[in-house]
Amino acid sequence: MSLSENTRPVAIVTGASRGFGRAVTAALLDRGWTVIGDARRVAELESTARELNSTRLIALPGDVTDASHRDALVATASEAGPLRLLVNNASRLGPSPQPVLADYPASELWAVYDTNVLAPLALIQAALPALIEHAGVIVNLTSDAAIEPYPGWGGYGSSKAALDQLSAVLAAELTAVPVYAFDPGDMRTEMHQAAFPGADISDRAEPEVVVPALLRLLDTRPTAGRYRASDLVGVLS
Ligand SMILES: NC(=O)c1ccc[n+]([C@@H]2O[C@H](COP(=O)([O-])OP(=O)(O)OC[C@H]3O[C@@H](n4cnc5c(N)ncnc54)[C@H](OP(=O)(O)O)[C@@H]3O)[C@@H](O)[C@H]2O)c1
Repeated sequence: MSLSENTRPVAIVTGASRGFGRAVTAALLDRGWTVIGDARRVAELESTARELNSTRLIALPGDVTDASHRDALVATASEAGPLRLLVNNASRLGPSPQPVLADYPASELWAVYDTNVLAPLALIQAALPALIEHAGVIVNLTSDAAIEPYPGWGGYGSSKAALDQLSAVLAAELTAVPVYAFDPGDMRTEMHQAAFPGADISDRAEPEVVVPALLRLLDTRPTAGRYRASDLVGVLS
């Protein structure tokens, strides 16, 4: 039996134009979800929407650090149907190559924290009433750089550490909505190439390879917490 349009589950996926966000969006569309996806670069987002070729992908260009854009994401999702998933995927690496902390420009650090910490929390706050109403799930994309003190990764890494702690506290505070920090591991994407400028990253996994781990999280809804894609597949399979 096919789902009627207004009962299809709805997801907000930030950073849906490429990389992991695009791969997750494609997988959710395949499963019958309606997806509200954003990105700042309009042309790339529109091109992705054309390629994914689904009337259930609603492309909403904008910057997650913009409060009116976040409100538009939530309003569009609520009009589309029951909001059951928020994936805070959009992220900012910072300068490439990444500066050591001793030289990290404060304005760049603000921008990294704005995108990677403040915006995800603000979007969670905006989406929370609908997520509670429809028994939804929150997934925040994190990184091993949140835990490992890699030289040169202090700006991005500390922002992901802050996002991890926000995720952990939210998970403890919210009983109705599971909150997951999801570490996808290394992936062959534009962000990863910017982190290793000039390096051959062809041995890294394609984002599509990691998506099943996230789907497993959604399907099984384990205890709220921090999950690595590699562990998830191993633990839950
Ligand atoms: N790739 C890896 O190896 C790796 C490893 C660990 C964790 N992660 C995490 O996985 C997630 C996805 O990374 P990725 O490698 O797929 O990145 P990516 O290929 O660079 O894609 C990032 C996406 O986010 C969008 N975006 C960036 N800033 C935005 C903003 N302010 N507002 C709205 N959209 C924005 C980008 O489009 P625009 O530029 O047009 O806005 C793009 O669609 C990130 O949270 C990243 O930290 C990645």
